[in-house]
Amino acid sequence: MTTARPFPPAFLFGAATAAYQIEGAAHEDGRTDSIWDVFSRVPGAVVNADNGDVACDHYHRYRDDVALMKDLGLQTYRFSTSWARVRPDGGPVNAKGIDFYSRLVDELLEKNILPWLTLYHWDLPQALEDKGGWTNRDTAYLFNDYALSVHDALGDRVKNWTTLNEPWCSSFLSYIGGEHAPGRQDPAAGLAAGHHLLLGHGLAVQSLRERDASLGLGITLNLTVADPVDANDPGDLDAVRRIDGQFNRFFLDPIFRGAYPADLLEDVAGLGFDEVVQPGDLDIISAPIDALGVNYYHGELVSAHPSAQPMTTVAPSPRPKRSPFPAADGVHWHLRDLPLTAMNWEVQPEGLTRLLQRVHSEYTDPAGVKLYVTENGAAYDDVVGEDGLVHDADRTEFLELHLSAILDAIELGVPVHGYFYWSLMDNYEWAWGYDKRFGIVRVDYDTLERSPKDSARAYARIISGRTL
Ligand code: FCB
Repeated sequence: MTTARPFPPAFLFGAATAAYQIEGAAHEDGRTDSIWDVFSRVPGAVVNADNGDVACDHYHRYRDDVALMKDLGLQTYRFSTSWARVRPDGGPVNAKGIDFYSRLVDELLEKNILPWLTLYHWDLPQALEDKGGWTNRDTAYLFNDYALSVHDALGDRVKNWTTLNEPWCSSFLSYIGGEHAPGRQDPAAGLAAGHHLLLGHGLAVQSLRERDASLGLGITLNLTVADPVDANDPGDLDAVRRIDGQFNRFFLDPIFRGAYPADLLEDVAGLGFDEVVQPGDLDIISAPIDALGVNYYHGELVSAHPSAQPMTTVAPSPRPKRSPFPAADGVHWHLRDLPLTAMNWEVQPEGLTRLLQRVHSEYTDPAGVKLYVTENGAAYDDVVGEDGLVHDADRTEFLELHLSAILDAIELGVPVHGYFYWSLMDNYEWAWGYDKRFGIVRVDYDTLERSPKDSARAYARIISGRTL
């Protein structure tokens, strides 16, 4: 018999979504195009040419969705605000746009659910992309203005603020890999975008802090655990260094240590990055934060040598087969003997324990920053049973394995303060369109009806018992 393992009393259980993935109402109440509206119209960019015009229609159904969160017992809800709704074209504030978030926040608070707000989950106004997007330094300052306008309207009620979601994706994957909006393929542009995103983060942290010292301010990063195929092969170890560098240290080091890693700077020498980084930038980027959000889906097994197994069919996605980072040419991914999700992502819960231990000891603990898991979840090819329900034992197992990995970290002395399952409901999975379902709640895209899957019921039981 196994004994039930309790979660710490203050541990927060939540679920996450993002504006473009669920809201719909893409051209309503003054919202104008973001880079994802435009990118999704590019032939071949998104599976089935799906777009977020309607998505889950959360814009009109948010009250029901909050009621659903309440039924599941969620303590907190992580959502993002859409820059293109709040400040269409990056221009003046749109009262109707910001009012949507104000109503959402009221609804959450009324149901005693803590709002966990992300300012940027990848949907830059297209008008700003037309001026260079994140490759343009001005965008960082405009992001700060946008952050302040959201704070003007919601700062009295929202206390937990995340500047950016996964800047790796909105820089390298988007401006170098070309797989996400705006679909550019230019190494120097990707590096500049990465730096300007971090600069925007630092500027917003400074000005929100100045407004209200009591706010909890943070950033969410998609961090990874890279392991070598052969720990004695110098090439494999260098592949690990480069993957760790681009996913983890490129973002963690400037934020926590005020410096880009020297080895990465060497790797990208000649791409003009030294001119992008201006005096004083790193002081801004390293402005103290209160919370670090870690998004974890899987780790990586990497090598300098190709895998015998053809990676064309099984390459972890959206990790491109060729890493977008300029210094990662020649890194090869290998698969382990692990189960795969519908994304072809390996199910590797122990990687989460190791990642949390490392981030805690090297970064958050010395800085006195609280650690949260702000995304973790799995897509599976759900089947609707004859009873009309989804019996997703695979997703429930994934959830339990990762919560258990967090408890392992906590038992090893890493204070983890909360967990947000990705995602509350099936939604627009970026370049995969509606093809991949991550939700614990099923969305029928014909009727837009929501129905909790077995995994939602399992999560609700864990939350109410506060044990695993
Ligand atoms: C993360 C994103 C999130 C969702 C999940 C599956 O990279 O932040 O929007 O797409 O992956």
